Amino acid sequence: MRILVTGAAGFIGQMVVDALAARDSLLLNGTERRIAAILASDIAEAPLDALARRNRRVHAVAGALSDPEVLDRIAEDAPDLVIHLAAVVSGQAEADYDLGMAVNLQSTIDLINACRKMAKPPVFLFSSSVAVFSCAANDTITEDTLPAPRSSYGTQKLMGELLVRDATRKGYILGRSLRFPTISVRPGAPNKAASSFASGIIREPLAGKTAILPVGRDLRLHLASPDRALAYTLHAAGLAQDDIGPDTTLTLPGVTVTVGAMIDTLTKVAGTDVAARINSAPDPAIEAIVSSWPGQIITPRALSLGFQPDTDFADLVTAHMSRIAAE
Ligand SMILES: NC(=O)c1ccc[n+]([C@@H]2O[C@H](COP(=O)([O-])OP(=O)(O)OC[C@H]3O[C@@H](n4cnc5c(N)ncnc54)[C@H](O)[C@@H]3O)[C@@H](O)[C@H]2O)c1
Repeated sequence: MRILVTGAAGFIGQMVVDALAARDSLLLNGTERRIAAILASDIAEAPLDALARRNRRVHAVAGALSDPEVLDRIAEDAPDLVIHLAAVVSGQAEADYDLGMAVNLQSTIDLINACRKMAKPPVFLFSSSVAVFSCAANDTITEDTLPAPRSSYGTQKLMGELLVRDATRKGYILGRSLRFPTISVRPGAPNKAASSFASGIIREPLAGKTAILPVGRDLRLHLASPDRALAYTLHAAGLAQDDIGPDTTLTLPGVTVTVGAMIDTLTKVAGTDVAARINSAPDPAIEAIVSSWPGQIITPRALSLGFQPDTDFADLVTAHMSRIAAE
């Protein structure tokens, strides 16, 4: 089979492409299939070229998803699996409304339209986010809670979910929208996501740098490790469409932890000196966004479909420490 990964140069995208390239086969819609080629699409060329250089079956498709040539190439390639990760993250989509609408919404419409030109409907994974939810005060909700985003990013993701649901009903794609928890610990540099601190307060102190904490210690977060994000993505591709049914949106399980408990875990695992590198600097704009995110999400449907969360936050910290030690 052929696989398309959009946003392949991004954090999750590179993990997914490398993991796919290391395998001979993958369970797709209930059937084990041999992986023949992986099309890696992104606007950022250099990381795409690096992916293609280190993986023989990876082919780079550089360019914006709004580019008709890119969309034509995708339609002609007719992948059996589309993993749609290209997006602009929450802080950026909030700061630049037009960019968020163009990438997070219009590109999803364009990509589904490219799939409509294919002879067979591909399995289509859409990366959504728990930012589609809002709640009064960082409450506990369930996967059945009505989404009510309070950010442009969450609104664009929710619209994408509806498009995926409808295109699946129409038979254009075999859609699955994955509402990812906030991923922590995210390697690399801080990004423009409002939740960037959820990785920064662990990653930066461990790298000997200071980290800014823009929120209070009592804020609860629904988190998953990078390894879980990868495992969730591959697992979602393998599910049979009949097992998913018409409700193509899946809210993924996470571990619930307060910011204070995250800092205490860092102290326990890495020591007081490391944790002392976190500087509190409350930021009302970030507080306003993240405190409307649920602190805990109960996800019986996703669990029954086999999505297994991390066990606790200490695992997320030690996994990150092992990863940096191996680099
Ligand atoms: N990391 C998280 O905590 C998290 C949580 C929930 C959901 N998600 C979602 O998962 C997906 C991947 O997240 P990530 O953390 O890897 O993000 P990322 O920012 O690292 O990667 C996104 C990629 O999309 C590319 N891109 C942006 N505009 C594009 C365009 N017009 N055409 C083609 N490519 C374009 C970027 O160059 C980037 O490489 C995103 O859809 C994101 O919204 C991530």
